[in-house]
Amino acid sequence: MKFDTKVVRAGISPDPTTGAIVPPIYQTATYVLEEVGKSKGFDYTRSTNPTRKMMETCLATLEGGAHGIAFSSGMATVDSCLKLLSAGDHVVSSDDVYGGVSRLFNQILTRYGMTFTYVDSSNPELVEAAIRPNTKLIWVETPTNPLLKVTDLRAMSRIAKAHNCLLGVDSTFATPALLRPLEHGADIVMHSTTKYLSGHNQLIGGIAITNDDDLAAKLRFVQKSVGAVPSPFDCWLTLLGVKTLSLRMARHSSNAMEIAKYLESHPKVARVTYPGLESHPQHAIAKAQMSAFSGMISFELEGGIPAGRTLLNSVRLCQLAESLGAVETMITHPATMTHAEVPAAERHARGLTDGLCRLSVGIEDVSDILADLEAALAEV
Ligand SMILES: Cc1ncc(COP(=O)(O)O)c(C=O)c1O
Repeated sequence: MKFDTKVVRAGISPDPTTGAIVPPIYQTATYVLEEVGKSKGFDYTRSTNPTRKMMETCLATLEGGAHGIAFSSGMATVDSCLKLLSAGDHVVSSDDVYGGVSRLFNQILTRYGMTFTYVDSSNPELVEAAIRPNTKLIWVETPTNPLLKVTDLRAMSRIAKAHNCLLGVDSTFATPALLRPLEHGADIVMHSTTKYLSGHNQLIGGIAITNDDDLAAKLRFVQKSVGAVPSPFDCWLTLLGVKTLSLRMARHSSNAMEIAKYLESHPKVARVTYPGLESHPQHAIAKAQMSAFSGMISFELEGGIPAGRTLLNSVRLCQLAESLGAVETMITHPATMTHAEVPAAERHARGLTDGLCRLSVGIEDVSDILADLEAALAEV
């Protein structure tokens, strides 16, 4: 099957009992055994559930992976991947990771004896230089949230192999419709399925996908032992949402490209970052490893925080909301919203300025989004 067929069909077959084309939601905690030691492959929903299994198979297939292990949120997924490590292990991470990820690393996992070094992973030399004898994992977000830095995954994979460590990739912004990190040498790819994969702002979820049987077994063990599992209903909603992934990502990407170009030419906009623009520092890598550039744009207004506040309070169609990757266009102010808990000094050192705005471009008619931005920018 080609990718656009897989998004509609992978992992799903008509319900064997009724023929229902949409699979049922197996909303159950447990399963009755036929006799002692004889089940139909399911015993308790924390361990496995038919609806969850369909979703895990579907998303793993889309990534070209053999195993999908689903969790109750993107953060639970990151945490579970890090549970592959032990006290004393070191991680080299992209510096511009989602604020919740750096909070987990710095404020929780360090208490369990892990250490983290943050580098700009768009520069492979910096990653290699940060490797220590106890480095067990290179953790890359590409494109990053919110500065949209792009990392060359093949270069990362070469470094990871040379130093005998794992490469984990948070591919939430790209989705398998645009980038499949396992094909570029990643050991694990993860998503916040809250975002593009489910696509409609309808749930919180996450998934880790791998081709490695041993890693998959370890992640399943964490899934079952910790129990941060998604509900059958959320898995079902994800299965429905993902069917339109290809169509949505094409529209998110074309809308975003048009809006990025518009913002770049606007006199009140100081800087626009979008991997599809030739002005993006890693445009060449993005073009080589992604099939389109997704729907995320960050931009800085002339006039800093007051200008940003006016813009965010003036938009009408764009929703002022703390998420991304859904059908509605959403606008965010990272310094006071998504990354508010990253200390100001650290934010500024990372280039995450107070005037930065992040736009998650939806699939509405692009002329309506442009008209909304035009009217709001006129107020600035
Ligand atoms: C790139 C990235 N990874 C992980 C997460 C965490 O996902 P969740 O909110 O589903 O826990 C987010 C959330 O915004 C994100 O943007």
